Amino acid sequence: MTVLTASSTDTKKKHFQLIEKTYRSNTESDYTEKIEHFGKNFDYSSNSNYYWGDPKFSTLYGTPLYEAASPSQKLALNHLYWVGQYNHTANAEANTMLYNQITTGVFATVKGYENLCQELDFETFQERFHINTFQKIGYKTKIALLGKEALGNPIHKRSQKSIEPSWYEKLVPKSLQAKFATKWTSSTLPTMTDSVLRSFNKLAYGGGAKHYSRYLADRENAPIPTTTGGLAGYTASPAAFKFLSLNWGSSPFMACQYYSMRMVANMSLKAYEYQYHRRYRDLVKEGEFIPTPTAVSFYHLLDESFHTTMSQTIAQEVYKDFPKPTVYEKLLANAIVLRGQQAILGGLSGWLPATFRNDSSYMTPLYRLLQSPLFGMSSSEALHWMEKCLCQEHEGFHANLKHHQNLLSDFRRFFGRLDYLWADNREMRVMAAGGSIEKAIRSNSEAFAKFSTSLAKEKN
Ligand SMILES: [Fe+2]
Ligand SMILES: [Fe+2]
Repeated sequence: MTVLTASSTDTKKKHFQLIEKTYRSNTESDYTEKIEHFGKNFDYSSNSNYYWGDPKFSTLYGTPLYEAASPSQKLALNHLYWVGQYNHTANAEANTMLYNQITTGVFATVKGYENLCQELDFETFQERFHINTFQKIGYKTKIALLGKEALGNPIHKRSQKSIEPSWYEKLVPKSLQAKFATKWTSSTLPTMTDSVLRSFNKLAYGGGAKHYSRYLADRENAPIPTTTGGLAGYTASPAAFKFLSLNWGSSPFMACQYYSMRMVANMSLKAYEYQYHRRYRDLVKEGEFIPTPTAVSFYHLLDESFHTTMSQTIAQEVYKDFPKPTVYEKLLANAIVLRGQQAILGGLSGWLPATFRNDSSYMTPLYRLLQSPLFGMSSSEALHWMEKCLCQEHEGFHANLKHHQNLLSDFRRFFGRLDYLWADNREMRVMAAGGSIEKAIRSNSEAFAKFSTSLAKEKN
């Protein structure tokens, strides 16, 4: 068995020094204890009279309903935005914990990457504390603002949507699909067996992959680990993520490629987290009261800045240390980035700032929010406001377009440096095309018409 080893010239490379420094700085600073303390002691009533973030980062900001809302409703919308975004972040970080471990299991097969593995393990440890605190604050805030009924009904969670098999079909060559006599359709996908996926993976990586993740190898007799929720939940089904778990755990190139997707999560988080960080510093300067969630965001950003550095370094530099991608890996890597663009970044929300998906999958959550104790609307009132907020041009769309443009240029700078990507991915063409108010309103209007028709049918 050939064992890859980082050569002595490799270890002198800048990125080795950066990884070593990141690990040292992250373990020295580490704010998990502080974050855990905030979660344990959070009390909504002591924080309820303050804005937690910039008012521009409030649920429904810029919509006609936001203009008509009372000062106390506006405060609540600012709090609900934090809850919605960090509920989403908690899910995304749970996914990170899994994929950090799968990919660390690959890097551990290559000598010279011990620091990198230690840092990734440490990040996994930190995420556990982050997630706990986000959930604790979210739980108490939702109970206070929306009542017990809101539990199990996440405000910003999309409606259940059927799995689209098309991207899966694109990933796997037709000739190979036939080998397993399996048609990759929505009806068979959820029941596809783990053994079929494992057999396919062995074929794709030429038998026993030399760098097969130790984490996966230790679980060979258990179901393939997968994920739901977070950004991943918008991208593909849990079955599709089993397929990705195996691929990201099968070669150093694919393990590095995972970090380009983790970077999408890191940058999407920063698009709304940075303003909490700024607010915290302003409040300190002015000697004002600091709401607990604002402080949590501040310290979380400090922990996460190391994670972002790692995602960027692995995705842009470390992959060059390893053998170039095979045709299959290149195709898969491009399909993953393309799918990520479509699912996570390919639209523009009219009521959720810094959210770049159209609102077609958010009809039910918005309808429920409008009928919650916060607004107390009847069904017809709720539909009236939904139409105004989703299907007509307003300030909220324009404000979100600005966030979209900022993030688009950051992503272009990041993906532009990955030489194995197609131009559509390097230039983020799908995301760029999604930055259109006209398109968002058109798609919302179609979805709203369907939603109100199905609601009318339910009532009859
Ligand atoms: Fe985190
Ligand atoms: Fe993180």
